[in-house]
Amino acid sequence: MYLMKDITRDGEPVLRQVAQPVEFPLSDADRQLAHDMMEYLVISQDEDANEKYKLRPGVGLAAPQVGVGEAMAAVLVPGPDDAILFKEVLINPKIISHSVQEAALSEGEGCLSVDKDVPGYVVRHDRITIRYQNLDGETKKVRLKNYPAIVCQHEIDHLNGILFYDHIDKQQPFHMDPQGILID
Ligand code: NI
Repeated sequence: MYLMKDITRDGEPVLRQVAQPVEFPLSDADRQLAHDMMEYLVISQDEDANEKYKLRPGVGLAAPQVGVGEAMAAVLVPGPDDAILFKEVLINPKIISHSVQEAALSEGEGCLSVDKDVPGYVVRHDRITIRYQNLDGETKKVRLKNYPAIVCQHEIDHLNGILFYDHIDKQQPFHMDPQGILID
């Protein structure tokens, strides 16, 4: 399983590279990678389990963040009352369409690979449609909005060498189109 020491940090070149497409059928190494990335998220969100491992809680983890330059990311977005809003390992994901409407998290974003706090709105699309492959190589298409859409955009950015703070307006970090949605 992955621990904090295994998470690549800002400054490591793999975080700024475009990830390579993953080929099917998945290799044993890729299957293990998918498993271990999701395992990190599950444990990091479980207070009791995490007591032991001290993982920084995360809702998404992309392969470059564990030093692997492949287009794979795990996403686990919890909802209210132990519900799960979105849980999937995205392989070769692409945003195929998006809303004009913008959205940003009111608290800004964080990233397991970025140890410093970077304040400001990370302005993204409020709604997206993504296409990806699952672990069995099946092509899936899913529409997402609000928080799960933000998380997936953050993770897909990782596969293109982009970090969240790249999107923050340097002059006006808390500027957003008045039509944009702030998500709590
Ligand atoms: Ni991140």
